[in-house]
Amino acid sequence: MAHAERGLWKSKLGFILACAGSAIGLGNIVFFPANAYKFGAGAFYIPYLVALVFVGLPLMILEFGLGHHTRRAFPQSLHHAAGRPGEFVGWWAILNASFITMYYITILGWVLGMLIASFGPLFDSPSTALAAFPAIGEMANPAGYFFGMLTSWWPVIFVVVVWALNVLAVSKGTSTIEPFLRFSVPMMWIMMLALIVRGVTLDGGAEGVLLLFTPKPEILADASVWKGAFSQMFFTLSLGFGIMTAYASYLPKKSDHVANSMMVSCMNCAFEYVAGLAVFSLLFVFVIQPKASTLSMMFFIVPQGIAQFPAGVKLFGVLFFALLLIAGLTSSISLVEALVSAMIDKFQVPRKKILAVFAAVGLLGSIAFAWPKVVDPTLDSNGTLGLSLLDLMDHWTFSYGLMAVGLAECLIVGWFFPARRLREEINKIARFKLSPIWDWVIKLVMPIMLTLILGYAIAGEFTAGPYGHDMNTGSIRKLHLLSLAVWLSMTFGGALLFTLLPTRADTAKEERQEGAAHAHRFD
Ligand code: ALA
Repeated sequence: MAHAERGLWKSKLGFILACAGSAIGLGNIVFFPANAYKFGAGAFYIPYLVALVFVGLPLMILEFGLGHHTRRAFPQSLHHAAGRPGEFVGWWAILNASFITMYYITILGWVLGMLIASFGPLFDSPSTALAAFPAIGEMANPAGYFFGMLTSWWPVIFVVVVWALNVLAVSKGTSTIEPFLRFSVPMMWIMMLALIVRGVTLDGGAEGVLLLFTPKPEILADASVWKGAFSQMFFTLSLGFGIMTAYASYLPKKSDHVANSMMVSCMNCAFEYVAGLAVFSLLFVFVIQPKASTLSMMFFIVPQGIAQFPAGVKLFGVLFFALLLIAGLTSSISLVEALVSAMIDKFQVPRKKILAVFAAVGLLGSIAFAWPKVVDPTLDSNGTLGLSLLDLMDHWTFSYGLMAVGLAECLIVGWFFPARRLREEINKIARFKLSPIWDWVIKLVMPIMLTLILGYAIAGEFTAGPYGHDMNTGSIRKLHLLSLAVWLSMTFGGALLFTLLPTRADTAKEERQEGAAHAHRFD
């Protein structure tokens, strides 16, 4: 039963598109340009490339190799490497990723709301948010519209729709995910190319592009830039979520993980740079100085730029939000799949059942992040309770959670599996053979880098104040501590529980035999 539930990709292309679809998401279109701008534009590509070479690529090879070798999702594959402590790390990663799934889907709900509005009032009606946020003053649409939407219950409906789309897409595992990705990944490229052509052909568009390539070496001495580049790399390549391991567990026997990792990371990083070009050209044509916040970039700075286009405002508005929605969906379905496959592997539960439970719990979480109560009418930080919760949870799960998982998986696979054995497995098929240097990158280089970055970040919590900056959460004091407590207790408690619960009938042997029978060469 278990194997039938898990399935296999129909083709190598299907697998590559699924991984690229997971990697290419909101992280590429909005977080990268916002981070690049915040961390010195042109100079950002240096730590970014270092993060790609020393963390992104080697870790993706590890996650693919592990999933493929064990034919298991993340927790059970780490169990295979290091017993229960390994499994605990796997569940911790899946639960950390579940928080991200919940708020990621809330953001997609807002994107859906903006997409619908861009057919109608988004670019032309007066602001509707003045009453709740006097601070927005004369701020015109689309910013006004966005804040108006945040203070309404409409996003709850949008969030229900986005969850339903996710459930539909993963309802039959690879056989529903693959067709969706075959359509949406090429579509994203076409939409992004249309946006970039529009951006750079505007008068002055090239200046923004140049800024993205103008180095500012002095910022390299700033540790926060390195932290920004490393966390961006984890998020954008979907590493530390358990996604790549789950996806690789559906591969037939003969798969080249070095080539697959190179292809996926090249597709992702190329898309990210193209997105950076599009967004930067647009922002500088209209002399909009983006604030550091990624959400403001997505929901009103870029749309504000589009609103000033000489022609085709609605068309490009629709294009931008449709692109965000499609790119986000291809990532969110991989997040959902990471948890579903982990549950199926551990408890042998029917896919539909676990999907229904996760969607119900996840929907409640997503609704919490969409909660419209106004806590900060001054808009000094985040206006609503939902937005504040989202910002806080993102701070723990994104800036700490993903890198902590990366550190733990390097230590577990590097020293216990160990790395040499996995490399030899990978090299049996890989055309470009991994050298023993890879082992030491996994065992030593990456753990040292990640420990330094995490240590620097933790120190910052004490020196720059909890959470790194003063967050105005109005009457709800200590929200940052509450969110930390919720995150830690749910992830640690849940991981402990899932690890200690008995694994249902171990079908590992049977599955491996079935897998071998199904295996065929793609390449
Ligand atoms: N990798 C996904 C993104 O960039 C999560 O949005």
